[in-house]
Amino acid sequence: MSVTETDIRSLGEWFYDFEFPGGVRTNERLSEDLRSIHRDRSMMLDAACAIAFPGSDPASPLSSRRAIDVGCHEGFFSHRLLRLGASSVLGVDVRERNIRKARLAAEALGIDRLSWRVGDAEDLDSVISDGSRPFDLALAFGLLYHCENPVRVLRRIASVTKRAIIIETQLCAESPDESVEWGRAGYSLPARGLFTVIDESKLHPTNNETGVSPLALCPSPGALRTVLSHCGFGAFHRVEPHDDANEQLTRGKRGVFVAVRTDATAGGDA
Ligand SMILES: C[S@@+](CC[C@H](N)C(=O)[O-])C[C@H]1O[C@@H](n2cnc3c(N)ncnc32)[C@H](O)[C@@H]1O
Repeated sequence: MSVTETDIRSLGEWFYDFEFPGGVRTNERLSEDLRSIHRDRSMMLDAACAIAFPGSDPASPLSSRRAIDVGCHEGFFSHRLLRLGASSVLGVDVRERNIRKARLAAEALGIDRLSWRVGDAEDLDSVISDGSRPFDLALAFGLLYHCENPVRVLRRIASVTKRAIIIETQLCAESPDESVEWGRAGYSLPARGLFTVIDESKLHPTNNETGVSPLALCPSPGALRTVLSHCGFGAFHRVEPHDDANEQLTRGKRGVFVAVRTDATAGGDA
């Protein structure tokens, strides 16, 4: 399908710069900041996939794997998963406008192994009706820190995922307290990570990247590890950025993590 400048502009401003046959582009004027964060996260996604599927062909670590991209926006990272060998990718996003762009871009590029659904990650079980754990891999890039119930989102993602979840997120610092007094003086429980409350009212609802509500909880690495472990994903790795990656990544203010289902690491679903 050939796409015109008018088709692209009719959907508003684009968050990624796709180039279509004939040279039509979705956002030539994308800022260097956004370009670099998309590029560096792409490289970290490649490394994350190799960690998630050890022993796989490095050029095609997702060979024959089914993937889901939650909070897919225009589908930029869904395309990346296909290039890494995935047999199919389902992109899910709560904004219909984003899914319309994702669909247009995939059609313009002539790609048919991508499919799209509008849906809320908090209710992923009502969006996915393909049987038990249909996906080998789930991607949650740029999603959790826009959600007011990130634990619920992780539980929902875990429930549809056989082997690995790859997360990219803004991060808050760990708690300075190693424990929290619990019920009475002299008794405490260990602090296993933090979620910081964020109010995105200034961006919401005109921005196409925020969550369903302006309220969000931003996790610390420890919070991610703890929640994912409770969801059955006990193996947890942090992907290191390149030295010259986007400064937020190199300063550890955002990060990429791979969580692998514990029974899969024992050989169950590899
Ligand atoms: C910051 S953008 C990240 C897009 C892309 N994954 C990336 O990393 O570049 C967040 C995306 O998540 C979507 N989103 C936010 N809350 C969501 C929810 N509860 N369920 C599904 N998608 C959601 C937004 O519409 C937006 O497309």
